[in-house]
Amino acid sequence: MTKPEIAPLHDDVTFHGPLSEERAARLIRGLELDGKHVVDIGCGWAEFLLRALEAAPTATGTGVDRNEADIAYAQANAEKRGLADRVSLQVADVQEWQLGRLADVVIINGASQVFGGDPVQHTANALAAARELLAPQGKLLLGECFWEREPTAEQLEAMPVPRDQCRSLADLVDFAQEHGYRFLAVEQANQDEWDVFENGHALAWERWLRANPDSPHADDIREKADRQRGWRLRGWRGVMGLAYLTLQAP
Ligand SMILES: C[S@@+](CC[C@H](N)C(=O)[O-])C[C@H]1O[C@@H](n2cnc3c(N)ncnc32)[C@H](O)[C@@H]1O
Repeated sequence: MTKPEIAPLHDDVTFHGPLSEERAARLIRGLELDGKHVVDIGCGWAEFLLRALEAAPTATGTGVDRNEADIAYAQANAEKRGLADRVSLQVADVQEWQLGRLADVVIINGASQVFGGDPVQHTANALAAARELLAPQGKLLLGECFWEREPTAEQLEAMPVPRDQCRSLADLVDFAQEHGYRFLAVEQANQDEWDVFENGHALAWERWLRANPDSPHADDIREKADRQRGWRLRGWRGVMGLAYLTLQAP
């Protein structure tokens, strides 16, 4: 049976996460990138990294992701936007990848899982890995989950996120400081950003189901879409937040 051709997520959303264009621009300004080398770990189709380089014409960048199709799309966009000579976009598993230099700025946005291990250790692993990559006083932009409110037992049951994977916002910032960083700034995705992202996430499946009602894959795709909707509406909506922390390494 051939694989169903579902449209890539970047057809329906700008970023692979709950992030408005306005917030992205503000986060990028806060990184003060002029003349710096910025590395985006688990960059996906690298829209954030490309915008960062557009905003700072003397900056250079590296993006790494194991998704070949996303990196190919990122590369095509870099070429179209005249950024290809300032960015290296690499297909690799981060766990077997090396940068080969120090970074002035590291971005790990919605991607602490790339370092592997128990989900409860993801934030610690990301904070430690970024320390290894960063030059002294370099900056880390960490987009990480936190509990906006304590999840109920029913909500925890409804989503694939263990309670101890996320912290309160204050505890997340303390945790970063315990890893040697200084806290510079925090913002969080708002409900509209979450809804735009989650709605976009579901659209390609629904379009495919409308176009392929008799496909042998239809039950699987419907099940996938329904599972995602359950995680969102019975699990994390309004409960799990995404914090954008800007941190400074020692
Ligand atoms: C939620 S997406 C975030 C993408 C991007 N940071 C953004 O905000 O648009 C997580 C990304 O991590 C990538 N990823 C997961 N495990 C990885 C690994 N071991 N090595 C490299 N990339 C990985 C996925 O392919 C995906 O693009």
